[in-house]
Amino acid sequence: MTHSRRILRLALFGLTPILCLGAEMTAQAGTRIERKAFGKTKSGESVELFTLTRAGAPKVAITNLGGYVVSMLAPDRTGRIGDVTLGFKDLAGYTGDTSYFGCLVGRYANRIAKAAFSLDGKRYALSANNGPNSLHGGPTGFCSRLWTAAVKSGKDGDTLELKYVSRDGEEGYPGTLTATVVYSLREDGGLVIDYSATSDAPTVVNLTNHAYFNLAGEGEGTILDHELQLEADAFTPVDATLIPTGELKPVAETPFDFRKPVAIGARIDAADEQLKFGGGYDHNFVVRGAPGALRLAARVVEKKSGRTLEMFTTEPGVQFYTGNFLDGKVVGKAGKPYLKRGAFCLEAQHYPDSPNQPDFPSAVLRPGQQYRQATVYRLSVTK
Ligand code: BGC
Repeated sequence: MTHSRRILRLALFGLTPILCLGAEMTAQAGTRIERKAFGKTKSGESVELFTLTRAGAPKVAITNLGGYVVSMLAPDRTGRIGDVTLGFKDLAGYTGDTSYFGCLVGRYANRIAKAAFSLDGKRYALSANNGPNSLHGGPTGFCSRLWTAAVKSGKDGDTLELKYVSRDGEEGYPGTLTATVVYSLREDGGLVIDYSATSDAPTVVNLTNHAYFNLAGEGEGTILDHELQLEADAFTPVDATLIPTGELKPVAETPFDFRKPVAIGARIDAADEQLKFGGGYDHNFVVRGAPGALRLAARVVEKKSGRTLEMFTTEPGVQFYTGNFLDGKVVGKAGKPYLKRGAFCLEAQHYPDSPNQPDFPSAVLRPGQQYRQATVYRLSVTK
């Protein structure tokens, strides 16, 4: 961008440019974050809403209750803005949420079989909140917690830091876990979610964001005609309660083969036992490449709007969930019902039930170690 165009753009945003002779201007580069009140919890704690804006990136609103992504506004190919994540218009929606509409899931995202695991010879009992299993950290998991928020300013503008200290024994998990999640925007359209955690005793940890996307816009029908490409050669088949059997099954010649772009709905109702168990896709895919490296995991294109979502992660797996349990009863922020398969989730993660599956990548965190996870959801337009 030329100097004068940048000044014009800053003027349009109501900012006063600082003119430095012969030097690049440094008024407010990068991301800006505005914070405002978002109501109070039942116990009277103040909740805030943070709006992240950056040229070239979606406008993203996040609350420190559960770290929910409340909205993500992005243009279609004609420039028309749409909100591509499901959610609620106010705090009451989020305090009553049972679908995890965009929150930070922990201490252990996804399922733990029979709500129990052993670590270093000791058995830990969790709450069973999904049939016999524990789901998403239990009934009072990280999604329901108030995170401490701080807006940090750096060379690239503002970032939102959310922190939550989970006490030893909370929801049955051992060790005091200090979790930090930093949300930021990139000028290439990426929402970056950077996770870290430490513990004062051995524990298990698996953090994710549970955003539900509909690239046509939240509440705009189903996602069955969205095209998905998954960078996965294998997935982890499940039993009838959605716990992995332990097998890594090649996707080749199954309805789980998304190595080339395919409409999500093309095979979703195929006569396949795995699809029956999930009521559609609700499975962990093994992301190609080395865990720890940020690499492309998935790409979704909605052809009518052109909106395109790419997901990158350092995690070994991604849960592809097609909103099979939505049933039209939840009404979203614009007043439209969220239909069955009205959204998809791409949840970066360690494989479900890893604490009970010695052959899966370990989810154990020990004192002195640092848990790290980074995920990027990048929005763009395919012409
Ligand atoms: C799970 C689904 C579950 C959903 C809850 C997903 O991560 O895999 O089975 O229904 O979260 O909203």
